[in-house]
Amino acid sequence: MKPALSVRDLRKMFGGLVAVDDVSFEVQQGEFVGLIGPNGCGKSTTFNCISGLLEKTAGAVEVFGEDVTDLRPDQIQKFGLTRTFQHTRLWREMTVIENDLVPPRNQFGTTILERLTSLLLSKSNPAETERLETAYSILDQLEVPHMAHNLTSELSGGQSKLVDIGRSMMGEPKLLLLDEPVAGVAGPLAMKIFENLRKMVDETGISVLIIEHNMDFILQQGVDRIVVMNEGRILMEGTPDEVKGNRAVIEAYLGAAGEPREDEE
Ligand SMILES: Nc1ncnc2c1ncn2[C@@H]1O[C@H](COP(=O)(O)OP(=O)(O)OP(=O)(O)O)[C@@H](O)[C@H]1O
Ligand SMILES: [Mg+2]
Repeated sequence: MKPALSVRDLRKMFGGLVAVDDVSFEVQQGEFVGLIGPNGCGKSTTFNCISGLLEKTAGAVEVFGEDVTDLRPDQIQKFGLTRTFQHTRLWREMTVIENDLVPPRNQFGTTILERLTSLLLSKSNPAETERLETAYSILDQLEVPHMAHNLTSELSGGQSKLVDIGRSMMGEPKLLLLDEPVAGVAGPLAMKIFENLRKMVDETGISVLIIEHNMDFILQQGVDRIVVMNEGRILMEGTPDEVKGNRAVIEAYLGAAGEPREDEE
């Protein structure tokens, strides 16, 4: 079976800064993988390169065996990849349920017109009733069904994250890349979201790569494997137990301790 995601010797430079430094890793089909590492180590940039948002300086990316290295985000999305952004991108003038019914930005339907058309179609097509039911059941799972008709501009940072996760699940992705989906989400609900993702992976065979900043948290969330980055490179890969006891990982995190996060709420 081809890996869901294969990243080979990926490098991204911003001027003289090497943000991603020859990174290679794979996510197998049906695998739930965490990508962790201290602030600024290159996690989001890696996502941006994989999903085609940023041009790569060097390296190759395959999605289900297809070379997507030089493709645009909307083309890569057609191979089953969906991603979320660290800073949520919702339509503030739309309600929660409406946001969940339109495809994520920078994938298919990138213009306002396309997104509105897709929304209108979803309302007038009876076959789309099922989509609406799926959207409600996802909101249920995320424990925000009561907010379905709130404008997203009324939501807290954590609640916006939940709507964003809901939206990413709507397109039945085969490979889901989530960038800190539970940042700002209260602990017990964050744990439940990981539990639901685990269940989704086990029941549907989807592959999930999830960025999480908090190492202590992700070690307990039932992921199969963790890829640890530090200063643009892969520091190690292993099971949560292997990562937990790794000296280099602990040192990387201790080195970063005390530096406040820019997006801390
Ligand atoms: N568009 C950009 N232009 C210039 N530098 C950038 C750009 N995006 C990221 N960087 C730099 O690349 C490095 C990696 O950033 P990145 O956002 O990938 O880190 P991260 O691991 O996601 O961090 P965090 O945990 O804070 O989200 C940082 O030094 C950052 O300042
Ligand atoms: Mg980031």
